[in-house]
Amino acid sequence: MGRPVNLYSFASVDNELAPNLRKYILDAQNEAFKRHDVFRIAVSGGSLPKTMAKALLAPSNGSPEDKVDFSKWEVFYADERCVPLTHEDSNHKLVKEEWLDKIPQDMAQPKVFPIDEGTLEDAQETADEYEKKLVNVFASRDSVKVPLFDLLLLGCGPDGHTCSLFPDHPLLRETEAWVLAINDSPKPPPKRITLSLPVVQAAAKIGFVATGGGKKDVLKQIFETEEGRNLPCGLVNGGAGEKVSWFCDTAATDGVSFPRRGSVI
Ligand code: 6PG
Repeated sequence: MGRPVNLYSFASVDNELAPNLRKYILDAQNEAFKRHDVFRIAVSGGSLPKTMAKALLAPSNGSPEDKVDFSKWEVFYADERCVPLTHEDSNHKLVKEEWLDKIPQDMAQPKVFPIDEGTLEDAQETADEYEKKLVNVFASRDSVKVPLFDLLLLGCGPDGHTCSLFPDHPLLRETEAWVLAINDSPKPPPKRITLSLPVVQAAAKIGFVATGGGKKDVLKQIFETEEGRNLPCGLVNGGAGEKVSWFCDTAATDGVSFPRRGSVI
């Protein structure tokens, strides 16, 4: 068995989790710049964009490693709802409002890849179009089996879902497509697209952010039970091992006995 995932647990989101998440994201950015001079990241919706913004928009400590260079960032969506980009349910709208619109004007802006609004009638078409965008960026599908993101930042639902991969859903068995359509999401809205499990597991780094007491039962399950290891988040842990880091607060890890780490910094 490979090396286990990293579980971080912090007393405060603002004072501890966010600065540690910043260091983690910037380490991933700097490693990616060394590899290919670009940083390709995919993000989810939920509470994550707010925490990400806290991490990334904080003042730099001035060291070269702590420099955010958005001019070389390419931002994708790990999952998205099939709604217009200005709709209340849109993850792009959320990410824009919580993070992108708050990036100071005098800073470079990342390149963002939202879904194609012209495809919304049919979730499969939305997924196919989005996959084409990935193919364009990550080279043709003949040359790469799966796109290799430098970092995925994901949430964990109270039922153990991540991206829009839900427990026991047949999409979890998909091995070929990069981007999948779902028409029956148990969390509304029902029509969505999501990265597939093999794409998630292939990323160079996978960071989960899970905070608040509402997550403690599912975290206990994921980290400590066989059943939990088969939930979508548990499958990411099992398939990607040490490439996975969980950024939690103590409310979320209350009662979890899996060994925790104190800090990235
Ligand atoms: C979505 C999200 C979803 C989210 C989790 C956790 O589009 O519904 O991408 O996967 O990340 O539900 O959400 P919270 O962080 O708000 O609990």
